[in-house]
Amino acid sequence: MKGFVIKGNICYSKSSNEICITSNGYAVCENGLCAGVYNKLPENYKNFPIYDYTDQIIIPGFTDLHVHAPQYAFRGLGMDLELISWLDVHAFTEEAKYNNIEYADKAYSIFTEDLLKSATTRACIFATIHAPATILLMEKLEASGIKAFVGKTNMDRNSPAYLCEENAAHTLCNTEKWIIDSGKFKNIKPILTPRFIPACSDELMENLSVLQKKYSLPVQSHLSENLGEIEWVKELCPDTKFYGEAYDKYGMFGNNCKTIMAHCIHSGEEEIALMKKQNVFVAHCPESNTNLSSGIAPVRTYLNLGIKTGLGSDIAAGSTLSIFKAMAMAIQCSKLRWRLIDQSLAPLNFEEAFYIASKGGGEFFGNVGSFEKGYEFDAVVIDDLALKHPQELDVKERLERLIYLAEDRNITAKFVNGKKLF
Ligand code: GUN
Ligand code: FE
Repeated sequence: MKGFVIKGNICYSKSSNEICITSNGYAVCENGLCAGVYNKLPENYKNFPIYDYTDQIIIPGFTDLHVHAPQYAFRGLGMDLELISWLDVHAFTEEAKYNNIEYADKAYSIFTEDLLKSATTRACIFATIHAPATILLMEKLEASGIKAFVGKTNMDRNSPAYLCEENAAHTLCNTEKWIIDSGKFKNIKPILTPRFIPACSDELMENLSVLQKKYSLPVQSHLSENLGEIEWVKELCPDTKFYGEAYDKYGMFGNNCKTIMAHCIHSGEEEIALMKKQNVFVAHCPESNTNLSSGIAPVRTYLNLGIKTGLGSDIAAGSTLSIFKAMAMAIQCSKLRWRLIDQSLAPLNFEEAFYIASKGGGEFFGNVGSFEKGYEFDAVVIDDLALKHPQELDVKERLERLIYLAEDRNITAKFVNGKKLF
């Protein structure tokens, strides 16, 4: 039996309104899984080595459910446009550079190093249309120890010539080769990534749905982010009643096809009902919602309905990989939404933000994002000693504060599936 114990203030979500806290307790890892959290270490684990993080805060690590790795290079830049023109001016021009493997090597090294330093243990990542650069990104992530889904993006229409695959047949062939090449990775898995409906022809979607079934792959894409985008999808897909149907008609909208849809800001009742029925995951990206002036996703509605919800950084429409910052922004955006748009939808509280960041998004990876028994042992240790305070704070208050105050430099250790990354 292989295992170890970590000691500290252990905090994790059981449900969206319940955070379990064990002060200076013991979390036991056995064969990569959590065997339990204890106030006093049981006799049968006494011979396990102990990592002693007494007085520090230990959380299960976060899932970034939506991030564009190639866009990390221009984070913090080009916050001046709405979605469609932002894509044309900023995102597509940067992504085209990943045709050059030396550039991709430099840029993806920076991305991976920074992701490793963060509190994120799991991520669902968009790359670009370029298979060689996507494999390079997967190699770097594999070496880091983080677990992730990575998608070579697909786009074959309404995209600039320099970032558009030749035709659907060509895309299919490239994508299948990339899927096969991805078989060499242990912790990094491929995810089909039709960029969004405006950039994917019917023929491409049909072909991707063949690959989805053949290789039982999950799918990630964008949904109902911007009002202009939604109008455009209506024109492009006159046979569909709502945006989500344009994925669903190809079997790529939940059910037997595990699916993440980023944003879902302007989803109507029918779309939401289908997301619920087919267990589509929502990646809520609050910073992106504001930077691209897209709107604010109704996360309260999604939580009330029991729709699976996680948080995304959506780099570079979001500026930071920090899921702590995404939690704070999810709370802040929900307050503005409540005040300005719909007073029947109460703002999120800190327990809910912590839940969607950890267990909510983690569910896409299985039993991930909690220290409940049987969950994969992911852990992030945070030393908040540098965040000085004159008054007494209990562990829960210290955790609440971290959502607003934590920086990567406060992180002292990180484990993924029982493996210590640093
Ligand atoms: N929709 C299609 N592509 C993108 C992208 O790169 N970022 C965001 N925020 N939305 C998109
Ligand atoms: Fe995105």
